[in-house]
Amino acid sequence: MTTSQYEKVYTKSIEDPEGFWGSVAEGIHWDRHWDRVLDDSNSPFYHWFSGGMLNSCYNALDRHVEGGRAEQLALIYDSPVTATIRRYSYRELRDEVARFAGVLVDQGVGKGDRVIVYMPMIAEAVIAMLACARIGAVHSVVFGGFAANELATRIDDCKPKAIVTASCGIEVKRVIQYKPLLDGAIETADHKPDACIILQRPQVQATMIEGRDVDWEQAMGTATAADCVSVAATDPLYILYTSGTTGMPKGVVRDNGGHAVALNWSMSAIYDVKPGEVYWAASDVGWVVGHSYIVYAPLFYGCTTLVYEGKPVGTPDAGAFWRVISEHDVNVLFTAPTAFRAIKKEDPEGKLLKNYDLSGFRSLFLAGERCDPDTLEWAQDQLGVPVIDHWWQTETGWAIASNCMGLGALPFKAGSPTKPVAGYDVQVLDIDGHQLPNSEMGNIVIKLPLPPGCLPTLWKNDERFISSYLSTYEGFYLTGDAGFIDDDGYLWIMSRIDDVINVAGHRLSTGAMEEALSGHTDVAECAVIGVEDSFKGQLPLGFIVLKSGVERSDEIIVGELIQRVRQEIGPVAAFKMATVVNRLPKTRSGKILRGTMKSIADGTEHRVPATIDDPVILVEIATSLHLIGYPKQD
Ligand code: COA
Ligand code: AMP
Repeated sequence: MTTSQYEKVYTKSIEDPEGFWGSVAEGIHWDRHWDRVLDDSNSPFYHWFSGGMLNSCYNALDRHVEGGRAEQLALIYDSPVTATIRRYSYRELRDEVARFAGVLVDQGVGKGDRVIVYMPMIAEAVIAMLACARIGAVHSVVFGGFAANELATRIDDCKPKAIVTASCGIEVKRVIQYKPLLDGAIETADHKPDACIILQRPQVQATMIEGRDVDWEQAMGTATAADCVSVAATDPLYILYTSGTTGMPKGVVRDNGGHAVALNWSMSAIYDVKPGEVYWAASDVGWVVGHSYIVYAPLFYGCTTLVYEGKPVGTPDAGAFWRVISEHDVNVLFTAPTAFRAIKKEDPEGKLLKNYDLSGFRSLFLAGERCDPDTLEWAQDQLGVPVIDHWWQTETGWAIASNCMGLGALPFKAGSPTKPVAGYDVQVLDIDGHQLPNSEMGNIVIKLPLPPGCLPTLWKNDERFISSYLSTYEGFYLTGDAGFIDDDGYLWIMSRIDDVINVAGHRLSTGAMEEALSGHTDVAECAVIGVEDSFKGQLPLGFIVLKSGVERSDEIIVGELIQRVRQEIGPVAAFKMATVVNRLPKTRSGKILRGTMKSIADGTEHRVPATIDDPVILVEIATSLHLIGYPKQD
């Protein structure tokens, strides 16, 4: 049997990482060449391209303007919710970004300072991010669906010098005012930013606070363009907070050098696109997919990217994605399976597809949650193009496993993201750290060092980086996912091993929800689990034990609790189900048996744990679940 191109590339990346990544790094413009490809002098903290200097914004914009792509489209903003389409060439985008970088400089922002970007899906969100990169400032984008409290937590952790926001976002037909959320967050937070730059959108005029708030348009009118500042390859480009086990999110750090090298390479190797083609990631800039594949990778590689302010359905119908693909000649689309489940639900026979010319469309990539084979096969049948499920995490910043379409596609297996991508030595270990035989399920880990582009640490928290990811198995990164490798070397990602759940492709912490619920005066104890859902993948479900003596009705309290999670975490938590129970099932040592409750809710087989304190409680739990319609009958 001949060795495939994928195998050759993968083997080289594992056997000679320095040789492999050193040569891949030539795809990036360096102001100063690196001293070492891989600096392992302070393991387990590894650094890629130490000694190297570059600028990520220069690599995303200026080098293409100088290299002959000045008039090519860099970014298309398509907003069905405001009936707007705006196009930016590489030259126009570079000029806007340079000017906004000047605005930041005028506000005292410099290299290493943090800037929070709390914006809806508009071109200015990308402009703000790239402007930070241009002057060496570190952006931290906060997803618009998070509430003021979550924003405050991030303000206190990364201590931004400035915050950039817009007067509102638009959720289909609902206008969401951002400014009151921002003001509330700043009031709650201990740290106060020096300046807030506000983009006034026509739908809402935000009230400005004198001396702190700066109007985007006015500031752009007087600012002068700022040049790219050279930064170390190992300097942080951004911090992106992601859900962990507790309410305090983890500040995933991304460096400049390794990130640019890995993402630029991924465009050809994984996505098989060419410079000049149109690449659309239908996600949000607030998530890692948005950072990597709306903003950085397509621009590093000289593609045209798309910022879509709309939904797969309802803006105006389930043909929205097909309209965008045909109108902008999209070659490759990347989104979460839940978006396709939404389309399939509304237009199961794909009737709306027939209204559009998708002849230039080549492939669909899915990630963010487990992709059920039904959805994958439906998408493939409707579109007639390869549908590639690939697996990754905020922490890695790019795919850990994928069918690498640019390295010769391997045979597909629905339900598996295929094989590890170059640089990732993926293994499956048992609880004692022994490698498991094929097809046996265990903890999925990646042997250190992680490849370029992955997190070097957590923001100002090396200890949490080690305790969260590196302390379970020495020399390995714990992904938090469980699964197995089959006899053909294909990976199967089956579930999380922690309390993270995935709702509509959004990563959420049940621990954070429990913290919000516990703050209610009537709640004695609670537990939140993620139950299976045929549309959103999972949905949070709360079990509530009330304090003794509480006489108000369960219904009123549950209503208040739902409102509370929405207000403290945000609408994105999608917390809409809770049931009051007398007690929670626990082990004799007091550990809540969330896994057992989940199995009962999902209707999957479970064994009553030998260590359970009182098995009768499980009967009560099953009865409460039955009353709210679980397990589902469909
Ligand atoms: N600002 C404010 N609110 C937001 C928001 C934002 N940026 N994003 C979502 N919300 C709100 C929604 O309006 C919804 O509010 P509601 O409870 O009042 O209805 C709530 O948060 C939950 O959002 P979501 O779980 O996304 O549900 P939805 O019904 O609005 O949309 C999908 C479902 C499938 C259409 C949508 O999640 C989607 O397009 N997902 C795929 C793409 C994606 O986001 N991927 C992310 C990682 S790749
Ligand atoms: P996030 O950090 O938001 O990207 O979420 C990462 C988590 O989503 C992973 O750890 C997995 O649990 C899940 N995930 C992402 N992509 C896939 C996939 N293709 N298959 C299964 N699970 C996935």
